[in-house]
Amino acid sequence: MKEFRTLTKDELTEEYNKARGALKEWEAKGLKLDLTRGKPGQAQLDLTTDMLSVISDREDCFSENGLDCRNYGILDGLPETKRLFSELLGIPEQRILVLGNSSLNAMYDTITRAMLFGVAGGNEPWCRQGRIKFICPSPGYDRHFAICQRIGIEMLPVPMTPEGPDMNAVYDIACSDPSVKGIWCVPKYSNPEGITYSDETVEQFAALRPAANDFRIFWDNAYSVHDLTDEPAELADIFTAAEKYGTQDNIFYFASTSKITFPGSGVAIMAASEKNIEQIKPFLATQTIGYDKINQMRHVKYFKNAEGIRAHMKRHAAIIKPKFDIVTSTFERELGGLGIAEWNEPKGGYFISLNLEDGLARRVYRLAMKTGVKLTPAGATYPYGRDPRDRNLRIAPTYPENDELQTAIDILCLCIKRAAAEKYLKNFE
Ligand SMILES: Cc1ncc(COP(=O)(O)O)c(C=O)c1O
Repeated sequence: MKEFRTLTKDELTEEYNKARGALKEWEAKGLKLDLTRGKPGQAQLDLTTDMLSVISDREDCFSENGLDCRNYGILDGLPETKRLFSELLGIPEQRILVLGNSSLNAMYDTITRAMLFGVAGGNEPWCRQGRIKFICPSPGYDRHFAICQRIGIEMLPVPMTPEGPDMNAVYDIACSDPSVKGIWCVPKYSNPEGITYSDETVEQFAALRPAANDFRIFWDNAYSVHDLTDEPAELADIFTAAEKYGTQDNIFYFASTSKITFPGSGVAIMAASEKNIEQIKPFLATQTIGYDKINQMRHVKYFKNAEGIRAHMKRHAAIIKPKFDIVTSTFERELGGLGIAEWNEPKGGYFISLNLEDGLARRVYRLAMKTGVKLTPAGATYPYGRDPRDRNLRIAPTYPENDELQTAIDILCLCIKRAAAEKYLKNFE
């Protein structure tokens, strides 16, 4: 297939008519397909059904320290749950807080706490320091950006590279402006590009000396064990790297089992230096008498140890890798060599990031919606929903059944070809 930019007016008209005609036929079928959110599919949820019955009588409810999980007690997590996460993530138990079900909730709370009360070793609450800012590697996770927007924190986009955020840009901003208080990071299998930060990038984060003494790196390791292949990406440990530079207080680390067990009924953790933990705990104690320990126990009894989780994640991969393959092989077949789209082939995580020819993303989003395929809105992967090149679309392949996914991607490719043909035809007007 020839690149679109080399096609004649007649050839482009033919492409346009073919795509338009096919889309009309799909539209008439009244489809309702959804590629918006990174949710596990039914078969993935079914993998963990047995977890619901691992606690079936009172004996199952006692922690190794004698605590009855059915009652109040223990704010920061059962010892065995801390151990499970410690083993899984390589973080010392004393740095782990086991919280409720949602790491996003923990991130939101962490920011509001900093706004209202400041952070350990900081001067004043963030909200008393005038306009504050966050660095937002982009494309990134829309819900991180939504937290900033909700709370009124100005967002400063920096580009992503195949090694992680552009660290020159991060250093320029973080080291020069004390009103910059943080940065969002999804260091492994980033949302949406599936990028894992290189060792050098992790080292640079550890070595960062921000202008603000109350700056924090929000290290959202949501996809730490979510490998799709037998050659998982390796992420260097940020806390170990930070020890060398004495910067461990700069790091707020988050993770959860949302996409290991049940989104909405998993277990979330936050990890931080001893100094940060000491500052945070009294605030947590005011928010709650304790989190859901029966669920914490359920996770421990079901998985037993980190190896149990790793084995379980292979079963997830067996279900979702074919879905990723459907998307990338269809893109290759339909769009390969046309010069109008590029995509990643992630080794893990939940998303495929699709970059179109500049100026096409919103048009393709609208065409897909009209044909019955719901996509994450164009622009969502950028702060304020503003993709400067209007080119990025995030594809979430896990939720639909394989046949629905295939149909949705076929339609998406038609939308892309139609939009690209329209764009190039304008050159002949
Ligand atoms: C990067 C990232 N962080 C956090 C979350 C949400 O995590 P949780 O369910 O623990 O709130 C998601 C969900 O898609 C995500 O992609």
